[in-house]
Amino acid sequence: MIRIRRRWSTLPGQPLSELDKKVLAYQNKGALVPWRKMIKTPEQIEGIRRSGVVNTGVLDLVEKEIRPGMSTLEIDRLVYEYTTDHHAIPAPLNYEGFPKSVCTSINDVVCHGIPSEREILREGDIVNVDVSTILDGYFSDASRMFLIGEVPPEKRRLVEVTRECLEIGVKTAQPWNTLGDVGYAVQRHAEHNGYSVVRELCGHGVGLAFHEEPDVEHVGRKGKGMLLVPGMVFTIEPMINMGKRTIFCDEDDGWTIFTADGLPSAQWEHTIVITETGNEILTH
Ligand code: MF3
Ligand code: CO
Repeated sequence: MIRIRRRWSTLPGQPLSELDKKVLAYQNKGALVPWRKMIKTPEQIEGIRRSGVVNTGVLDLVEKEIRPGMSTLEIDRLVYEYTTDHHAIPAPLNYEGFPKSVCTSINDVVCHGIPSEREILREGDIVNVDVSTILDGYFSDASRMFLIGEVPPEKRRLVEVTRECLEIGVKTAQPWNTLGDVGYAVQRHAEHNGYSVVRELCGHGVGLAFHEEPDVEHVGRKGKGMLLVPGMVFTIEPMINMGKRTIFCDEDDGWTIFTADGLPSAQWEHTIVITETGNEILTH
């Protein structure tokens, strides 16, 4: 949550760039602007793009291999091996004590499920596989939902609408719009379809670290929140519940997030960069 107003810092002794002038004009009108350090250089963006290529390769491999009867630990192994074969590091491994290379979240698990030998994918399950990669110090982050065998229509619809929520969020993430515009658009689509949006977890800046500023909420008000400026890199990753939005965290592992009502939840995620003319998805 952004509680403190940032101020755009100009470079001392240098004339104002076109970008400076534009951001300062918004700031003078009262907009919440990013810090300059949230703007990535073209070289950094290229590094994140290359990291994203490996990340997408991992998800494509999982998409090819995932099937009923497979354990989530087998997914973890695929992720670890593909990533390290490509001279990259799975970002979740040992991140704040997370024990595996990927998050696997089935049915009523909202996110941060830990792969396990004892957890077997069954016909009718929906599962989120959340992959994050570090390549040459650059971070990328994306997740997809997978349908295991024949899935009941209500669950398929949840997965589809959640994917649309991500697409609408990305489409709304235009330069000089705000994060509030993005959250509003995602929330509206989810709620129009009778679903609820998880509030406790959100998207995030990404690139030089796993989780950077700003927080990217999936609810919001039009015109509110931080201004989107070319060069900002962040994830959009709506978690949408079929039932109530209330969630809880597993006491034993300290990671797995469940829906309180036991109904299914879905999530899709991309890493994007804001450009002068729109945005670019760095994870597909
Ligand atoms: N990949 C998650 C995200 O989208 C973060 C998972 S943290 C982990 O931000 F430690 F569980 F990997
Ligand atoms: Co993320």
